[in-house]
Amino acid sequence: MSIPTPNNLELQAARALQVATRVDAIEPFRVMEMLKAAGALKADGADVISMSVGEPDFTAPEPVAAAAMEAIRAGITQYTDSLGIMPLREAIAAHYASSAGLAIDPRRIVVTAGASAGLLLACAALVAEGDEVLMPDPCYPCNRHFVSAFGGKPVLIPSSADDRYQLTGAQVSAHWGARTRGVVVASPSNPTGTSMTAQQLQEMLAAVRAKDGFAVVDEIYQGLSYDGAPASALAFDDHVITVNSFSKYFNMTGWRLGWLVVPDALVPVFEKLAQNLFICPSAIAQHAALACFRPESIAIYEERRLEFKRRRDFIVPALRELGFGVPVMPDGAFYVYGDISKLPHPDAGDSGAFAMSVLRQAHVAFVPGADFGFAAPARHVRFSYATKYERIEQAIDRLARLLAR
Ligand SMILES: Cc1ncc(COP(=O)(O)O)c(C=O)c1O
Repeated sequence: MSIPTPNNLELQAARALQVATRVDAIEPFRVMEMLKAAGALKADGADVISMSVGEPDFTAPEPVAAAAMEAIRAGITQYTDSLGIMPLREAIAAHYASSAGLAIDPRRIVVTAGASAGLLLACAALVAEGDEVLMPDPCYPCNRHFVSAFGGKPVLIPSSADDRYQLTGAQVSAHWGARTRGVVVASPSNPTGTSMTAQQLQEMLAAVRAKDGFAVVDEIYQGLSYDGAPASALAFDDHVITVNSFSKYFNMTGWRLGWLVVPDALVPVFEKLAQNLFICPSAIAQHAALACFRPESIAIYEERRLEFKRRRDFIVPALRELGFGVPVMPDGAFYVYGDISKLPHPDAGDSGAFAMSVLRQAHVAFVPGADFGFAAPARHVRFSYATKYERIEQAIDRLARLLAR
């Protein structure tokens, strides 16, 4: 797929404005480019089935929307504490207790403007110029850019289906160098939808601890799991920083709200950074999010989680049937990372060209592997099944017809 790059005039203008060199290390987020291409086709009247963006097709349920409107009407819209309002930090802590049996001190919870702000704060706190940070390949694209933005060097380590596409303890030990400072992982992972087993997670965390490094564990998809809840890093280690969000399980992507759980000793560090970088997360979103934890909201979220599972149970076998390689069943999130190399298609060796030609010919949008790493991007594409079941059926049908040509 051709990704628009700045033309000469734009480059000259950027140089004239003396854009910092660190921006050179930041690549475009191809999923957004795919969205743009799909949007252009839609504007021309095409019926595009979008399976590219990682965003639930559900929106915040009624109790949450009502709480937001109530906060606006009552004028509770001023800046809040930088770490978030205490009732929300307490509600998040209570959710850990009820959903995972974990006792987390609410004072360790830092409410952020989405997981993105959480990852940014974590990198601001932990990554110094020249520090190396290990992550699995493939992984969530922004992670390497968060690290680069603070002068660090992301080191992507090719993962394998045998290890559920996750970073292992053995890899951490083998790749730890003089400049290595820590790891950033996600479980369940984007783009593979696979989570670490409890044992994998423990081994990986032990390997990091043995080096006195930091572990940032992104648990944004923990609520969306289909074969039993994956282990939280918080069950094993008080030194980890976990990242979470209201975007995915709680269906609040555009509300920009998430949280971190940080070690006791780091709370003042995160507070100082949050005060300066963000002042606070959205007050309205925070008051609305309190309603997420009411039993009636949780009932809605659980129903929706089961709908995601139904879609997963349809799409994975259907893609396998078409010839996509999905060697390990994704157990969470809403992604399938498929190997296209054995497909009967002239672009089976180039996921970018394949994604673009399927978009043009079958009007089905998904993301080529290049966003997620360097190990085998040309062989892989990521499907998001955060779209209606019937649309997923149609997409499979269109793919089947295209591949049969
Ligand atoms: C693994 C992972 N982490 C973080 C984010 C960012 O989420 P948020 O909307 O909470 O900023 C995403 C979004 O897709 C993600 O997939």
